[in-house]
Amino acid sequence: MISRFSSFILYFLLLGFLCSCQANDLQYKLIEEKPIATFVGNVKTDSTLRSEMTDQEFSQLQFQILTEGNQYAQLFSITDDNGILKSASVIDREDVCQPGVQCILEFSVSIFKRDVTDLDKLGFVKFLQIGVEIKDINDNAPIFLEPEIVVNISESVPVGHIILTSTAIDEDSGVNNSVQTYEISSFDNTFSVQLIENLDETSNLGIIVNKQLDRETKNSYQVTVVAKDYGSPQRNGTLLVKINVIDANDNAPKFNQSSYSLSVKENPPIGLVLLHVVATDFDIGKNGKVTYHFGSRTAKVVTRLLSLNESTGALIVKDIIDFEVDQFLQFYIEAKDQGLPAKTAQAIVKINVTDINDNSPKININFPPGGELISEDSKIGQYIATVSIQDDDSGVNGTVSCSVKDKTFELTKVYENIYKINLKTKLDREDKAQHNVTVSCSDFGIPPKHNSSNFIINVSDVNDNDPKFSESVYLSTIYENNAVGDIVAIVTAIDPDEGKNGEVSYSLSLNADSVFSISTSSGIITANKIFDREEIDQYEFNVTASDNGTPRFSSTVLVIVTIGDKNDHAPVYSKSLYTFTIQENLIPGTIIGHVSAYDNDTDGNGRLMFSQSHSFSSVFQIKQNTGEIMVIDLVDRESKELFEFNVTVSDHGLPPKTSSARIRINVKDENDNFPVIIFPTKSNNSIQIPSSLEVSSLYNQSNSI
Ligand SMILES: *[C@@H]1O[C@H](CO)[C@@H](O)[C@H](O)[C@H]1NC(C)=O
Ligand SMILES: *[C@@H]1O[C@H](CO)[C@@H](O)[C@H](O)[C@H]1NC(C)=O
Ligand SMILES: *[C@@H]1O[C@H](CO)[C@@H](O)[C@H](O)[C@H]1NC(C)=O
Ligand SMILES: *[C@@H]1O[C@H](CO)[C@@H](O)[C@H](O)[C@H]1NC(C)=O
Ligand SMILES: *[C@@H]1O[C@H](CO)[C@@H](O)[C@H](O)[C@H]1NC(C)=O
Ligand SMILES: *[C@@H]1O[C@H](CO)[C@@H](O)[C@H](O)[C@H]1NC(C)=O
Ligand SMILES: *[C@@H]1O[C@H](CO)[C@@H](O)[C@H](O)[C@H]1NC(C)=O
Ligand SMILES: *[C@@H]1O[C@H](CO)[C@@H](O)[C@H](O)[C@H]1NC(C)=O
Ligand SMILES: *[C@@H]1O[C@H](CO)[C@@H](O)[C@H](O)[C@H]1NC(C)=O
Ligand SMILES: *[C@@H]1O[C@H](CO)[C@@H](O)[C@H](O)[C@H]1NC(C)=O
Ligand SMILES: *[C@@H]1O[C@H](CO)[C@@H](O)[C@H](O)[C@H]1NC(C)=O
Ligand SMILES: *[C@@H]1O[C@H](CO)[C@@H](O)[C@H](O)[C@H]1NC(C)=O
Repeated sequence: MISRFSSFILYFLLLGFLCSCQANDLQYKLIEEKPIATFVGNVKTDSTLRSEMTDQEFSQLQFQILTEGNQYAQLFSITDDNGILKSASVIDREDVCQPGVQCILEFSVSIFKRDVTDLDKLGFVKFLQIGVEIKDINDNAPIFLEPEIVVNISESVPVGHIILTSTAIDEDSGVNNSVQTYEISSFDNTFSVQLIENLDETSNLGIIVNKQLDRETKNSYQVTVVAKDYGSPQRNGTLLVKINVIDANDNAPKFNQSSYSLSVKENPPIGLVLLHVVATDFDIGKNGKVTYHFGSRTAKVVTRLLSLNESTGALIVKDIIDFEVDQFLQFYIEAKDQGLPAKTAQAIVKINVTDINDNSPKININFPPGGELISEDSKIGQYIATVSIQDDDSGVNGTVSCSVKDKTFELTKVYENIYKINLKTKLDREDKAQHNVTVSCSDFGIPPKHNSSNFIINVSDVNDNDPKFSESVYLSTIYENNAVGDIVAIVTAIDPDEGKNGEVSYSLSLNADSVFSISTSSGIITANKIFDREEIDQYEFNVTASDNGTPRFSSTVLVIVTIGDKNDHAPVYSKSLYTFTIQENLIPGTIIGHVSAYDNDTDGNGRLMFSQSHSFSSVFQIKQNTGEIMVIDLVDRESKELFEFNVTVSDHGLPPKTSSARIRINVKDENDNFPVIIFPTKSNNSIQIPSSLEVSSLYNQSNSI
């Protein structure tokens, strides 16, 4: 009869940082448990960088570890200017790696170069893939997961019967730091210990019964198994095995298979029956009634994920089985009859969990220092950020392809899961000051899983725009006789740049300086003097708008100011007195002359209208428009030989201005009467003269007798 107690083997594979499977550019070694800031290596001098650039470029290199999304990268630090790689925490090899495998932590370092023309700017040079092997020290003792077990064993088991249990675990790796020997101390050498190799290269610990047992002489044993490593210092772990010797029983249950293997896709529905185990017992009654149990040392993870129906042997899914956490489950199940003592049998169950595409790619975006703000004059190709991708699925389900749908930025693959983002086109802050860039990734599973992540790039300003006037020429009118300080015109120029680069100030050209003033900030142009249209009726000058950026940009616009007229001049006659001489008896309608006047105002204010004081004359009339004077009635010198009157001229201003002149018209005689002799007599035309009249003397009526 064989009685075994349960044992378990658990393959617990934690998927850590997925290996980029690229040969590392630099490989370092670090012994575990070293204090923080232990020197690991000098990336700057150990790499081939020195031979790839000039002395000056080499001296200006900057280093950055891509920590985003890589938990191992955070265990290290690098001095940004000289590339000294140090540990950033105390690293316990057993925390970061599985036992027994080579422990290499991998991460990337980005290298930037200061731009010689602009020391604030960083240019991307390359990535270096770094691997740091964490070397083991013997810091862990071998340990048995359960320090004490109880085994019931029939007194009838043959010599050589093996009680199976789990080996001790030593989390250290390396030849001498892992478990090397097992020693047993037992009463009278009844038991010995031996490693039992399994087919899958794991092993179990076998406690071998060396002598025939006899419950009646000794019904229990306590044996101690000590596991030792050969490390320095040597460490050990102990297992106390309490063995109860029980009465014999005929038949044990027997599983129809000694081992059950199956494969299940991850995330099976809760309640799914994975398999039925079947054991038969040839005994009858209680001795033949079989119930099923997990082996006593089944790992907790198994009992958390699975349940076993005691009566039917159905193995049922109890919780989510995730490939990314548990890829393989292995445990013993036990069939037990109800006899006293009960008999048991064991079988091993091995479950492979297979992947389905249930993880979306995770997108991590790393910017260089200050990299989320870039200048609008950045060159095409400027490095923007590094994108690292993580997809926990395996095979095509974990193979990812990413893209950026953006006119301005482009994504290029550097390694399998690392991309860099560069500038694809020139930026123009005035067109777009902020870019919201979306990185979209999909894996190649069927159906694929997608994810996207977006980041914001702010564009900083450079002075690349002139101020622009709202008009190509400013035309403005101001009326003469204005007040000093009156607003003449307002010019406005807009500069789309930001801050000082877009701050506009105005100035006048020299020729306008004394006549006008301009407000530097508002562009309001005011008069420095009182204008007189009759003196100057138009001013032309330039206004310059400049921004305050470096270099300064400016533009110039022509301003034409027209001085508007006010009725500030009265008409003026060319003479104050006009004298005309006419013949009498002119035909009515005859023009006898004209008066003229001028007015220095323009338009209505200068348009003249002549008139006469109407009290005056029914004989002459002045024409309103021309100032011509016309005869309108017969003029008889004999009745009036001198006419005098005033004419007025007025402009069309509001109110009109007037002035007047005097007109004098002399009427000349015309031979319109026959001669009549009134001397010496009207009747006989004879004259008597005295003889005394002297020669040459005039004789007239008064002389007459
Ligand atoms: C061993 O047998 C005793 C009774 O004899 C029982 O109480 C105990 O549960 C058994 N232990 C195991 C591990 O089977
Ligand atoms: C392991 O220990 C043995 C004995 O102490 C020693 O001879 C051997 O060199 C060690 N092996 C390693 C790899 O340290
Ligand atoms: C196990 O190690 C302890 C100290 O860690 C030591 O005192 C003890 O003697 C060791 N036991 C054996 C059996 O070597
Ligand atoms: C489980 O996986 C192992 C190793 O990958 C393989 O050898 C075995 O055939 C698989 N078993 C089943 C049932 O798929
Ligand atoms: C064992 O029993 C299970 C459940 O009835 C069955 O699926 C399986 O084929 C059996 N195995 C053998 C070897 O008969
Ligand atoms: C086991 O299966 C039987 C039959 O299907 C059922 O009646 C019983 O409730 C189950 N036991 C448990 C603990 O689920
Ligand atoms: C990928 O996932 C699908 C289901 O989504 C699965 O059928 C396939 O086996 C998986 N492929 C790999 C390589 O794991
Ligand atoms: C998408 O990527 C982001 C960034 O890595 C991650 O936080 C998020 O969980 C991902 N989404 C899904 C559905 O996996
Ligand atoms: C950027 O775009 C994404 C989707 O395209 C949106 O959800 C997010 O709010 C945007 N962010 C900003 C700051 O506009
Ligand atoms: C105004 O500027 C233009 C050129 O920008 C120049 O040709 C012109 O002479 C300037 N005029 C004055 C009045 O300064
Ligand atoms: C009118 O203008 C003329 C020519 O410009 C000038 O000689 C004259 O003095 C002005 N008269 C008045 C009243 O301003
Ligand atoms: C006519 O004009 C003169 C000056 O030109 C003025 O002295 C006189 O008073 C005016 N007479 C009338 C009647 O308007």
